[in-house]
Amino acid sequence: MLEVFVLLAVIALMFHIGSFLFSILALVALVFFIFPGVYAMLFGAPLTITSKRRFSAMLELGKFKKSDVVYDLGCGDGRVIHKISKEGVKKAIGYELSIPTFLVAIVRKWVVRGEEEIRFGNFWNQDYEKATVLICFLLPDSMKQFEKKIWPKLPKGARVLSNDAQMKNVKPEKELHKVYLYLKK
Ligand SMILES: C[S@@+](CC[C@H](N)C(=O)[O-])C[C@H]1O[C@@H](n2cnc3c(N)ncnc32)[C@H](O)[C@@H]1O
Repeated sequence: MLEVFVLLAVIALMFHIGSFLFSILALVALVFFIFPGVYAMLFGAPLTITSKRRFSAMLELGKFKKSDVVYDLGCGDGRVIHKISKEGVKKAIGYELSIPTFLVAIVRKWVVRGEEEIRFGNFWNQDYEKATVLICFLLPDSMKQFEKKIWPKLPKGARVLSNDAQMKNVKPEKELHKVYLYLKK
């Protein structure tokens, strides 16, 4: 989402400066800067922040413990994984692929002196061997991919808290305000 604003700002600057060389350089830089976020938007989910009501549901369903290693699959501006880190979990890690959103999350973590880890990367390609909780807020089709690609590799006992989207062939243990809790058996 932030990519759209960056794109418009650079196009406006290109017209304002009017240099052909600047325009070419700006366009090349933009492609690299914007591409990961567009991919994330299409094959994960666009940036949408979890509401307070849904976050409370996550806390209630998640029952976070000291031993939990929590991953946020697409952490956006990092506020959800930050709040979870404050629940006293062992580790709280957020992956984000959109460059502008990742930079916002890093600045945010620095401002609030967060203890969460914000990592730039594609959550589809990570290892969740040590995960005890995964947080998802994905598009329905991406949740189907999650069911095929990530769910089968999760360790026994892992919990998945999915905001809004459901898996097709796995039944949630519980549901609260459209947050679904899945347990890997
Ligand atoms: C719906 S937002 C969720 C933000 C946050 N987790 C929350 O609950 O408030 C989804 C985020 O996932 C990011 N994303 C989508 N696909 C991704 C991928 N493959 N790897 C890393 N981040 C991704 C998007 O850029 C976006 O910021």
